[in-house]
Amino acid sequence: MTAPGPAPARGYGLEVLPVGGWAATVASRLCHRLMERPGLRVCLPTGDTPTPVYAELVARERRGEVSLAHATVVQLDEWAGLPPGDPARCDARLRRELIDRLAAPPVFVSIDADGPDDEAAALAHDSAARGLDLAVLGLGMNGHVGFNEPGSHPDDPTRLVRLAVSSREAATSRYGADSTPTAGITVGLARLLEAEECWLLVTGERKAQVLRRVLEQPEGLDCPASYLRRHPWLTVFADEPAASLLRKG
Ligand code: F6R
Repeated sequence: MTAPGPAPARGYGLEVLPVGGWAATVASRLCHRLMERPGLRVCLPTGDTPTPVYAELVARERRGEVSLAHATVVQLDEWAGLPPGDPARCDARLRRELIDRLAAPPVFVSIDADGPDDEAAALAHDSAARGLDLAVLGLGMNGHVGFNEPGSHPDDPTRLVRLAVSSREAATSRYGADSTPTAGITVGLARLLEAEECWLLVTGERKAQVLRRVLEQPEGLDCPASYLRRHPWLTVFADEPAASLLRKG
């Protein structure tokens, strides 16, 4: 496989935030975007990183400070082969932590991972993931975003992918899956780079090394998140431990 051509040099925003204020700040920015554009089309991840942001967002919605009623939430990724009741399912987690806790929920565009044809489900979701106003992403320890594992190209569409071993293990060891999935469906880097705005959320000291790889070394297939630097409006929201290995200034 040949590496994609060199990327145009573009800047990105980096916000380094104290651990205690990280989630509130990210939630505030999201509220702001929703107030500016109530019909926001936003792609959201699951995993442990965004959980406190969703809790903040729910609290603010309940206090009447923000509404997602006119927004559309597009699911970022889903394990293939996990049954609907599995606790690790991304759709279930997004519903549990955000959608179902809102008084006035947004339209939720989930990935149909229960049908007979995962390739067809991916193709359908590729259409749903076009025209995003905002793509919010977490960062995997191996540099993945969504399930765009190492080897992914910046022009990859939404598709069925083979999961990296670390992602398979995370399904059971970190997210409580009853069985180990080997594949997933993910919004592709092409759709993420097309979104009007892109946020990368990174917390914890264990992500410091990979965040440095993402931001300070040449982009490359070994680290799909590094391609996000091509995005014309990328903001990285890192807490202080995650940013601890970045060059100062
Ligand atoms: C999950 C997803 C993944 C995670 C990443 C980080 O929907 O898209 O790419 O964002 O693996 O996971 P956490 O936040 O659990 O460290």
